[in-house]
Amino acid sequence: MNILGINSVYHDSAAALLVGGKLVVAVEEERFNRIKYGKLPDVDNPHQFPERAIRFCLNHAGLTARDIDHVAYSFDPKLRRKRFRAEWWPDPRLEETFLLRLGQVPGVADELLGHRLRQRFHFVPHHLAHAASAFFPSGFDGAAILTVDGIGEAAGSSLAKGAGSRIQSIETFDYPHSIGFVWEVICSYLGFSNYDASKLMGLAAYGNPEIFRRAFQSIIHVGKEDYAVDPEAIGFFSAKSSRIGTLLGPPREGTTILPRHADIAAALQEATNAAVMALVRRLKRKVPIEKLCFAGGVALNCVTNDLIRQSGDFSDVFIPSAPHDAGTAIGAAYVVHCAKQKSPPERGTSTPYLGPKFNRREILAAVKSAGLTLRRSKSPARDATNMIADGKIGAWFQGRMEFGPRALGNRSLLADPRRPDMRNILNQMVKHREDFRPFAPSVLAEHADEWFEVGAHTRSHEFMLFACPVKPELRDRIPAVLHHDGSARLQLVRRESNPRFHELISCFFARTGVPLVVNTSFNDSEPIVCTPADAIVTFRKSGIDALFMDDVCLTARA
Ligand SMILES: [Fe+2]
Repeated sequence: MNILGINSVYHDSAAALLVGGKLVVAVEEERFNRIKYGKLPDVDNPHQFPERAIRFCLNHAGLTARDIDHVAYSFDPKLRRKRFRAEWWPDPRLEETFLLRLGQVPGVADELLGHRLRQRFHFVPHHLAHAASAFFPSGFDGAAILTVDGIGEAAGSSLAKGAGSRIQSIETFDYPHSIGFVWEVICSYLGFSNYDASKLMGLAAYGNPEIFRRAFQSIIHVGKEDYAVDPEAIGFFSAKSSRIGTLLGPPREGTTILPRHADIAAALQEATNAAVMALVRRLKRKVPIEKLCFAGGVALNCVTNDLIRQSGDFSDVFIPSAPHDAGTAIGAAYVVHCAKQKSPPERGTSTPYLGPKFNRREILAAVKSAGLTLRRSKSPARDATNMIADGKIGAWFQGRMEFGPRALGNRSLLADPRRPDMRNILNQMVKHREDFRPFAPSVLAEHADEWFEVGAHTRSHEFMLFACPVKPELRDRIPAVLHHDGSARLQLVRRESNPRFHELISCFFARTGVPLVVNTSFNDSEPIVCTPADAIVTFRKSGIDALFMDDVCLTARA
């Protein structure tokens, strides 16, 4: 049975394919259409499918549109009608438009696949899709499952229980109780785009949470086992609500970041930690299982994630590489599999390397059409190491592209973590990001505990989802990956998960005695590169010193 999963309701459009219950491919549309998040989250476009991602999934699996048995879409208009009230919008007519477009979704699927799906098209509740995207890849037999995002149909947070092939919803916190929306509003208030939560996360480390603590206590009221968001403070999609202005002062204008802005980010992070921990306690009481799965956009918050892990409430915490909406394409397909098949889907498939890969012929063709001169490297790991250790920036392109927002060694820019100036160099030459944002390290799993307070290693440590303290005595040796609060959002690299990347870091360790490299996504203010041609474009327009695509090496001078 072939099940195509699709997310396109808000943002992070993506497609995924289950073949006989096995997840074989998943990819985000942004990597193909080169538009961040695939499309704008517009009420008028949930029927705008990730067409290129879908076509890629079919091609990858060697299937035609006729071979698709079921289509799963990670949003349920029926549930929306039941739970969501049109008056929550600034203009209730927006809901009509949204539902009209959702009504067109099955027809769009029929047209794209060239046949009528009828009963084989399925709307899947959004938070159920999030929950499934974490539970089945986790490999846990049973788990408590927490979803926290902006909004599903109406829910901002959901508690659920997973057992075997069944996910049972326990409880939801509906709009306005959305932590994700608070982040969107504060992002906008601080002059960033609504989806720049990772910038606020970075900025928070520079602030004092006490200054705006009381203000945030009235925005997100946290109890022992629950939380409530003040509707006046967020207002659906109204970025500059007057209540925020009253509580926090005038919004940020221009490019300057004042200490006050960092204090606001710090108080937001603190309130988020408290709210999510309250939910974790509630979930633990209602679903007394030792394993936790966590999904939804808020599960990209590596500071909160590490608090959950450190709390010791759960023996293992699993967060997928794509806990945000892209991951619901996978989750929706799993839900339909469970409904249609007696047997559970293949569980424990948690690899992030689910996207396109390119063979040597394709890489050489891209180099040739760019008119560049290449060099074959006998040992790319050693050559890349030597460049990095000499202070250069190396682009590392290999194998299947990552699914999820982090580059995990297959579409990565690598640099020397020992250099205090490397952050500035990376920012000036390639990334063009704000100076306050930290860069992350990829570290050999077998040496991680010598350098970082990792705790028990989890599978999700391989997805850069936890901010761990750097051992104080080693902090001055790796300044390029040390955040202001002494933490680093590390990726553990195991040989079994990514042998070539592991080999590279091993070479760097052998040469320098430091078992980690700076790893940032291979892009410059755009979606992460997908194809060799994308890689070459970004390489040429930026200050990257060398590009390694398998054993093909391009240097800036060539
Ligand atoms: Fe979501």
